[in-house]
Amino acid sequence: MKRLGILGGNQVAQMTVQAAISFGIDTAILERFADSPASRLTQYSVIGDWTDAAALGEFAKMCDVITLENEFVDAWGLALLEGRGLSVYPSSETLTLTQDKFWQKNRLEAEHISLPAFRAVETPDDVIAVGEAFGWPLVLKARRDGHDGYGNVILQKPTDIHAAWTQLVRRNGRKLMVEQFISFAAELAVIVVRGRDGIICTYPVVETIQRDHICHIVRAPAQISSDIAQRAAAIARTAVEAVNGVGVFGVELFLLHDGTLLFNEMAPRPHNAGHFTIEGCVTSQFENHIRAVMGWPLGATEMIAPAAVMVNLLGTREGIVHPESVHHALSVPAAHIHFYGKRVVDFGRKMGHVTVLGATLEEAETVALHAANWVDL
Ligand SMILES: Nc1ncnc2c1ncn2[C@@H]1O[C@H](COP(=O)(O)OP(=O)(O)OP(=O)(O)O)[C@@H](O)[C@H]1O
Ligand SMILES: [Mg+2]
Repeated sequence: MKRLGILGGNQVAQMTVQAAISFGIDTAILERFADSPASRLTQYSVIGDWTDAAALGEFAKMCDVITLENEFVDAWGLALLEGRGLSVYPSSETLTLTQDKFWQKNRLEAEHISLPAFRAVETPDDVIAVGEAFGWPLVLKARRDGHDGYGNVILQKPTDIHAAWTQLVRRNGRKLMVEQFISFAAELAVIVVRGRDGIICTYPVVETIQRDHICHIVRAPAQISSDIAQRAAAIARTAVEAVNGVGVFGVELFLLHDGTLLFNEMAPRPHNAGHFTIEGCVTSQFENHIRAVMGWPLGATEMIAPAAVMVNLLGTREGIVHPESVHHALSVPAAHIHFYGKRVVDFGRKMGHVTVLGATLEEAETVALHAANWVDL
């Protein structure tokens, strides 16, 4: 049996390991911090940075197949692992095409996918020029390593540029891009899984509700027409094929009031918008990710209930986590509570999630929010 290595040790890796356990396959984790949520679940773990060739080399010796839990891993690190003969999915080529939002959007524009007008910017003066071309407001985005909205600032007017620029370039002179601000009717997401053989499946389209740019609620399936759902799934499939993706991908879209769909971004890994699939679908996104990267047949992606709602448990303070803070929520019998076991909490940090299945979205959401409200983070 082959061993599956995962770069990163947070919740996405943890839930992938949980799925791997059901298949009886061994996993290994490479993570900078000791005692990560995923490394606690396996005896094979390297504590080190994925930018450190020595750590990657040590990790490579433990693994046959390698995947990742976030897109912050450098594409050259994946190329190094590929050079040692390992099967790496997503590949270094796919990561190169996706981890820089500007390159990603260029690639998808070439496939005739509609997306908000965008442009790379080198200086604050470039942003003023884009404002003249696109109109205001604009969204200034870090091209790489943004997550949960931390890489984005909305600019209402030219005088907002200076502070936003300073905030976003602060680390290693990060490259920035600017995008037209979209006043959408809703945000949708499609989880896509593509096997090594190119067979591709999509999960039911979901609606995501962000609070302060962070995913808060996921409603499955989205309350949209079958025409919109089919177009969303088609865009998502085209996007994953355009980067020759293997594994699970999360594709985020804006739905406009006139029914137009615009591509926002995709992540080359299991996605927060797909956590509901653990209880809500025949095959979870994590199980299907493993099937895809191992080269195994994919599982069915249908839902097993009419509706499922997932609510993220986000930190509301800084400090040490009290594991018992979820215990009250367990008094809601229909709620599936996931608590990731992170040792410290921070404002907005994803600490866990709750999923509830139901006959309707309204019913499931009421119960899920009720359970989430019992969690004191
Ligand atoms: N061009 C835009 N117009 C309007 N709102 C936007 C735009 N781009 C992003 N947003 C809002 O900000 C949220 C986060 O943006 P984006 O998906 O680019 O960032 P991220 O930090 O990489 O994402 P994630 O939260 O998925 O990790 C979006 O879900 C959306 O609500
Ligand atoms: Mg996003």
